[in-house]
Amino acid sequence: MRVLFVASECGPLIKTGGLADVVWSLPRALGSAGVEARIMMPAYPGVAARLEGAESREIGDVFGYSARLITGTVAERSMILLDAPGLFDRPGNPYTDPDGADWADNHSRFAALGLAAAAVALDGIGGWVPDAVHAHDWQAGLVPVYLRHAGRASPPTAITIHNVAFQGLFPATALSALHLPAESFHPEGIEFHGQIGFLKGGLAYADRITTVSPTYARELMTPEFGMGLEGMLRHRRRDLVGILNGADLEIWDPGTDAALPAIYSVSNRTGKTKNRKALAERYGLELSEDRPLFCVISRLTEQKGLDILLQVLPHLVETGARLAVLGSGDKVLEEGFAAAAAQHPGRIGVEIGYDEELAHLLQAGSDAIVVPSRFEPCGLTQLYGLRYGTLPVVGRTGGLADTIIDANPAAIRAGVATGFQFAPVEQEPLRAVIDRVCAAYADRALWQRMMVSAMRQPVGWDEAALAYRALYQDLVKGTAEL
Ligand code: ADP
Ligand code: GLC
Repeated sequence: MRVLFVASECGPLIKTGGLADVVWSLPRALGSAGVEARIMMPAYPGVAARLEGAESREIGDVFGYSARLITGTVAERSMILLDAPGLFDRPGNPYTDPDGADWADNHSRFAALGLAAAAVALDGIGGWVPDAVHAHDWQAGLVPVYLRHAGRASPPTAITIHNVAFQGLFPATALSALHLPAESFHPEGIEFHGQIGFLKGGLAYADRITTVSPTYARELMTPEFGMGLEGMLRHRRRDLVGILNGADLEIWDPGTDAALPAIYSVSNRTGKTKNRKALAERYGLELSEDRPLFCVISRLTEQKGLDILLQVLPHLVETGARLAVLGSGDKVLEEGFAAAAAQHPGRIGVEIGYDEELAHLLQAGSDAIVVPSRFEPCGLTQLYGLRYGTLPVVGRTGGLADTIIDANPAAIRAGVATGFQFAPVEQEPLRAVIDRVCAAYADRALWQRMMVSAMRQPVGWDEAALAYRALYQDLVKGTAEL
């Protein structure tokens, strides 16, 4: 089984969030399950240089920009890069200019990715022809659209919604420039309230739709979470499935993690104390033995609910707990957290920025990780928290609800609790859950039991890989029967 992955981010090559983690790690797990996935993405600056065995093929112009495809491998992953310097040779964030505004030609940039990927899906590359195509998020949303209108038999398609908040909406005037057929511009096609919707088009024309947790799959069909696409997703509910993401245990394993001052494992957790001290030192925090050290590792956006955490910080400090934050994003939140750190030295530490290595130290050195998201399709940091025995404290939504077993009395009695859930995501429930965490932390035996349960959770990619393989097999079988 050969599957073409199409995405705008991938692992250590280019990353703004969890999408990159998934696109990097899932193909590897699929490989172990007998599925050969190749990852197609733009050749952002520096990416092509990372390829081993690179070979390049001219493909002529895409929307007037000269382009070629570069194949090769990175850490045993097969990659196909769309190298169109006029569109992608821009430094920094893949979507925004240096001032943080979306690039004005994002529609051309990601339509080009879609069009080039559709060509690879139809004709293959170097003799490799995919049996199915798997598009990720709005940036790859046009692949199923171009394939549907190719006028010839094409491989079946699946699209994964990693976050419905990002839909890729552009003016309808771009239709012909993007080679999109006028007959696709209707509510059952790519049209979304008078605009071109890249994600909308993908959802309309893909054979299957997946998202990254079962709860988010249900939530997506409601007005509260569907962001205007709930109606069409309800309409396609038979083709919609939620498959939980996993954690990459080659990258996130406290037993082998090279970024840590001390490694540890579920059977020997003593190293965690050393990491805790190192983390406190790095953040200038005065540790208290009988109070938990919380951390946050996050984009600072509305989705993540960190404005609510900010409001609750005086209470957190009052309990004697500590907090270490790593994040970047909204200026108001960045300033809010920086001000909180200045106001509570030794209690709250904040680093504004993006730092992969520091994220590992935070996971290893903290007692609990707070993820107070208003919505969360899956969430990965709580999975990493489980693996590192850093108990997740999460809003009860999306993948957070599906991955963390709340320490309610029944779960504690059964010995299965792995973290703490709260709902709704508002100040009072967050305050209350912080109190619950502090009480559980004070009960040393309980906390240790929970750490062991958390660290033993099977959070790897194996189960998801089997679910995706079954989906691809179904898709291919479905096409063969047509
Ligand atoms: P989302 O994709 O919505 O941002 P996820 O939890 O799925 O949320 O994935 C976030 C990923 O980005 C994780 O790998 C997390 O460790 C990482 N991350 C987020 N913010 C930072 C940061 N400031 N520094 C380092 N890593 C970060
Ligand atoms: C999105 C979601 C996040 C999910 C990630 C990977 O960025 O916000 O919840 O874990 O995609 O699927």
